[in-house]
Amino acid sequence: MGVINHVPPLDLKRQYEPLSKQILETFERIFNSGGFILGPDVTSLEKELAQFLGVSHTIGVTSGTDALWLALKAVGIKPGDHVLTSPFTFFATVSAICNAGAIPVFADIDPDTFNICPEKIKQALKQDTNKKIKAIIPVHLYGQAAEMNAILSLAEQHNLFVIEDACQAIGTRHDKGVVGSLGHLGAFSMFPTKNLGAFGDAGFVSVNNSSLAEKVTLLRTHGSTVRYHHEIVGSNCRIDTIQAALLRVLLPQLNSWIQLRQEAASYYDERLKELSSKIESPKRAPYSTHTFHQYTIRVHNGGRDSLSKFLTESKIGNSIYYPIPCHLQKALSHLNFKTGDFPIAEKAASEVLSIPIFPGILRQEQDYIVDTIARWTRSH
Ligand SMILES: Cc1ncc(COP(=O)(O)O)c(C=O)c1O
Repeated sequence: MGVINHVPPLDLKRQYEPLSKQILETFERIFNSGGFILGPDVTSLEKELAQFLGVSHTIGVTSGTDALWLALKAVGIKPGDHVLTSPFTFFATVSAICNAGAIPVFADIDPDTFNICPEKIKQALKQDTNKKIKAIIPVHLYGQAAEMNAILSLAEQHNLFVIEDACQAIGTRHDKGVVGSLGHLGAFSMFPTKNLGAFGDAGFVSVNNSSLAEKVTLLRTHGSTVRYHHEIVGSNCRIDTIQAALLRVLLPQLNSWIQLRQEAASYYDERLKELSSKIESPKRAPYSTHTFHQYTIRVHNGGRDSLSKFLTESKIGNSIYYPIPCHLQKALSHLNFKTGDFPIAEKAASEVLSIPIFPGILRQEQDYIVDTIARWTRSH
């Protein structure tokens, strides 16, 4: 191998290379079957995902965004209801709330885990004197679980539904169980870059309650089980058969891919220690494993954008998840949030930077990344 002078943000080709024969055979099998909507591959994938998570049901859907929307609809969220979530998430969490007709409200995050803070949830619930908040969506950001013990107990006290946004956290284990099995429902994304990614958009809902599972299944196909008979208004949110079939090839690899991500993360932790005055590596919550969908560092003293530029110039993939917290997005300007409303999320948005992590990343690539960061710190 020559000198390493670039690292991609992720490398799916490298990851899938050992499976290419099985993947191509699956394409061919589905092509020859001529069956492209639902069918046995979808049913089998749903069973296999349920087994993987240890839940009674999963329902394959079009995307993580639709998984969230379907979960909200299934628990009866209706126009005018408030749904509490983290301001520091991909905007899809909020879009789903709005598209269910509800109003997003926020509680600030924990600075160590970037996940919604139970103390802040408590304050938000105290201020909710008209009892408009009907559900909480904790987001397990970057692959680490939110503090579910406290969240579930607050939800129980206030009679709220809990929908886990586990879009970034398939396989993450909380003390209480695997994410997606802890709340009333869980929503997962299988967008191609996720730890388990399809070859296009896909997602699923996880649930332990049969009647909620039935409701999601009904909503997924225009509220219909008998063709052209519609019991409720739903939408078209089915996972594609081809995606389900391909995901069945990938799923058996997921645990080993997670382990590779965790090993790569430990290597970064070790090597980044020497830079700890300027760079903070990800903190681990005592109650959760971390599946490292992202390895996200904090860059202190206003240096984040400069480091990002330096990495890009050094041909190292890097991304900011997320540069603007949800409450300050233009799309929510009608809700009149302002800078300072959720200061911990706002600070995180100005400091976070995700560096390459993927199954198969080489130690030499990680060394090049850490050495490049070290070079940057010497001049800042
Ligand atoms: C936290 C979070 N929620 C929701 C979603 C939406 O998932 P999808 O892109 O599959 O619609 C994503 C995906 O990026 C996500 O990261």
